[in-house]
Amino acid sequence: MVRERTFIAVKPDGVQRGLTGEIIKRFEAKGFKLVGMKFMQATEDHLKKHYADLADKPFYAGLCKYMSSGPLVAMCWEGTGVVKTARTMMGETRPADSKPGTIRGDFCIEVGRNIIHGSDSVESANKEVALWFKPEELFSWTQSNETWIYE
Ligand code: RTP
Ligand code: MG
Repeated sequence: MVRERTFIAVKPDGVQRGLTGEIIKRFEAKGFKLVGMKFMQATEDHLKKHYADLADKPFYAGLCKYMSSGPLVAMCWEGTGVVKTARTMMGETRPADSKPGTIRGDFCIEVGRNIIHGSDSVESANKEVALWFKPEELFSWTQSNETWIYE
């Protein structure tokens, strides 16, 4: 059985600020399984597709520009409830509303430089994973400590 998957990205500001390892560490330590990862610079066109739901927002153009301005780390993480739990681990969209202990609460200040992306529902996770990864870029593998993470 394939457990739920989500799309997580360390945004270009997270990469520039050297927070990639810290972010990966938190998902690993939680017990989630990495099933896909690539370091890449996405095009503005690709970001426009990714953020299509926000096309009518005033910040849409700037958001797509910022997200395509430098390399990012695209990841797919797997685990029970990973979509919702990843959002909890990330904190709120606005870093100022994010509690200490969350990624945005601990490492950033402004909404337009909030260092991490995570899918907001199972439906968008499935769409985003398909948009960012080819099937052969995702790996099903057995985590050796799985029986110590799941009952
Ligand atoms: P994300 O998709 O990047 O994980 O962020 P999110 O779900 O928490 O927030 P969403 O509403 O999807 O917004 C996407 C990204 O757009 C930028 N934003 N800027 N200037 C603004 O008021 C504003 N609002 C949102 C943020 O970078 C946000 O993460
Ligand atoms: Mg979003």
